[in-house]
Amino acid sequence: MTPHDKLFIPGPVEVSEKTWAAFSRPMIGHRGEDFKNLYRAIHPGLQRLFGTNQPVFLSTSSAWGVMEASIRNLADRGVLCCMCGAFSDKWLDVAKRCGKNAEPLQVDWGKHIDPKEVDRQLATGKFDTVTLTHSETSTGVMNPLEEICSVLAKYNDVALVVDTVSSFSGVKIEMDALGIDVMLTGAQKALALPPGFSLFSVSEKAFARAEKISNRGFYFDFLEFKKDQANWVTPSTPSIAHIHALQSKLDEIFEEGLEARFARHARTNAMVHDWVRRAGFDFFAEEGFRSKTLTCVKNNKGIDVLEFARKLREKHHLVIDPGYGKIRGKTFRLSNMGDETEETVSHLLTCLDDVL
Ligand SMILES: Cc1ncc(COP(=O)(O)O)c(C=O)c1O
Repeated sequence: MTPHDKLFIPGPVEVSEKTWAAFSRPMIGHRGEDFKNLYRAIHPGLQRLFGTNQPVFLSTSSAWGVMEASIRNLADRGVLCCMCGAFSDKWLDVAKRCGKNAEPLQVDWGKHIDPKEVDRQLATGKFDTVTLTHSETSTGVMNPLEEICSVLAKYNDVALVVDTVSSFSGVKIEMDALGIDVMLTGAQKALALPPGFSLFSVSEKAFARAEKISNRGFYFDFLEFKKDQANWVTPSTPSIAHIHALQSKLDEIFEEGLEARFARHARTNAMVHDWVRRAGFDFFAEEGFRSKTLTCVKNNKGIDVLEFARKLREKHHLVIDPGYGKIRGKTFRLSNMGDETEETVSHLLTCLDDVL
């Protein structure tokens, strides 16, 4: 590959030569047998990754397209937005812009969503949809998904939408067993594909809900996706290059083995955590609720984060993120998602020490 600065930001991440080769395979028609065979071939692997028997859909949009779609397809009475950082907070605004009743369940950035609070809110009967970000990429918080799903299990008329954008394929998430109604993810995080593409799956309960909701639009209508997936096509012309790259990535994932892949992410994440402590920094996310695919480091030492990141790039050609939104400069973020190994993460940490 041509020399380039390597991304250790929490998405997009480095895309391998192998993936780029698949991305630039010769084009095929999206209504022909070649495409149907491609979709059919990758589908069982996608279902395994999602932990679902439901259809998995290919969306030529970034994750926000599907996040907005979930609101448009499901929300009627009201949306409870579980908010703990930039991405989960934004969902409230999106729901309101879609013309829905929406209310925040807000915690301070760095804290997790408390399942008991979700329960209290749902007991009011005001909500039929909940939005939850599993791994809040801006703060490095990983929310207690299982516990929150257990709460949702008590409310059969409430649909749970889970953004697994920065956790998918880095940690195990079993959609059906957890009772998730819409699970969605993007291409540019742990899947290490180029950005601009996303994947999602929808429960039977959510399809039934969508049937009763008007103004679902066309591009993101869940029922259009469902109808077309039955014939191994997509409602509109998809990014076929992404799907070729996804096929190549799935081969790699199952060659490595799912458990081995999750363990690799856990190990490289632990290496970053050790470095944080060794270097005298703190974590922005509270203990016990930290993402396994990225780390949000609290700048308790008061370094010039922008200068730190600039020097790292200039000297070592590695790119880290100087913090998101209102915590820019007060934090910085290191990613260990995608194809990173002990060797590549160790190199990053050595370079961080050098620049510090
Ligand atoms: C947790 C989370 N949700 C949603 C998004 C939005 O994804 P996109 O900008 O690809 O639509 C991101 C992007 O970083 C994210 O990290």
